Amino acid sequence: MQVFIPTESAPGETRVAATPETVARLVKRGVAVTVQAGAGARSYFVDEAFRKAGAEIADAAAPAGAALVARVQPPSAEEIEVLAEGSVLVGHVFATADRSRAERLASRGVTTFAMELVPRTSRAQTMDALSSQATVAGYKAVILAAESLDKLCPLLMTAAGTVKPARAVVFGAGVAGLQAIATARRLGCVVEATDIRAAAKEQVESLGARFIDVPGAEDMEDEGGYAREADEEFLARQREEVARRVEGADIVITTAQIPGRPAPRLVSEELVRSMRPGSVIVDLAVESGGNCELSVPGETVECHGVRIVGQRNLPASVPRDASSLYAKNVLALLGLMYDGEGAFALDLEDDVLAGCLLTHGGAIVHPATLEQLGMAQA
Ligand code: NAI
Repeated sequence: MQVFIPTESAPGETRVAATPETVARLVKRGVAVTVQAGAGARSYFVDEAFRKAGAEIADAAAPAGAALVARVQPPSAEEIEVLAEGSVLVGHVFATADRSRAERLASRGVTTFAMELVPRTSRAQTMDALSSQATVAGYKAVILAAESLDKLCPLLMTAAGTVKPARAVVFGAGVAGLQAIATARRLGCVVEATDIRAAAKEQVESLGARFIDVPGAEDMEDEGGYAREADEEFLARQREEVARRVEGADIVITTAQIPGRPAPRLVSEELVRSMRPGSVIVDLAVESGGNCELSVPGETVECHGVRIVGQRNLPASVPRDASSLYAKNVLALLGLMYDGEGAFALDLEDDVLAGCLLTHGGAIVHPATLEQLGMAQA
């Protein structure tokens, strides 16, 4: 099997889909890896380290003859054009955000495995890039909040007086939210969290935070463990319960998402106005519409004295560890695609591969994606 690792071309992207460690493991199993020169530079993995791990370094961006291309961000139209017909692509695609991308991949005859579609099952945990990257984002959100905040986070008792601990409220206790809670606790914040899945309560409490109970929360989890879209009545009850905590908060981190839908609007301008000047909101859902109605994608804005951080793509701001974790997710997924001699052996009946198979045989084949795009199965 021939694997090609390109340099990411998306603005602001610093990550890379392989590290010298994962390359060495692939090479050991008989897989030939080519890395585009400079592909790891922005995450501080130099070409020489890839070469030592057994990769070939190529100047060209085109994966000449490579059977498989592994990347982080969705490929641009030009990057799709240079993929060999019948080759395999592994990486994020986000087809529901841009249908033409999936259509181009299909018409190019590419077999695409979309990292964001890897099933959230126990067997696929090592391949779950949504989780690995959300972990990084949750951590970094709190670091950004602490950096922008006008006060210290921990309780300090000093000769000059006592500093009260910062109060943080986290919206959404999924992977990113739980990591935000853990990070805020490590900094010494007093943390409260809200989620519409009742199962989140125990996890929040196990991290030493307080769960904000909202009556009716047990109804909001679907069979896959994800949140269903909450109805207006529930959201109104939630707003009321949470508003009092937000009023007294120094830090608000929002991570609430509904797969395939715009993020729920949970922090209104009125709520922002109720917060004390000098406090901070970090909106992790900014790319899917934002949980805060005042957040601006890619910017930090100040409204009513409150700083609202809408920085995009937080994993890319911690490139080394974000790349290392993502590369291990990719390595684990590739492990399902070759045999003992490192030769290609795709089993499309495999539940993980079938779960994230987006395009194959010239068509978009992922049932949930087709449904979300309003397209019929070929
Ligand atoms: P996500 O990124 O889709 O959403 C983040 C959180 O926001 C979720 O906990 C969701 O319940 C919450 N949320 C949605 N609407 C909300 C609202 N109106 N107010 C407050 N909170 C709201 O979720 P993520 O982090 O991808 O995880 C989703 C679920 O999948 C979780 O139960 C997680 O534990 C589970 N999971 C399972 C895995 C496995 O079994 N391998 C791996 C990763 C996650």
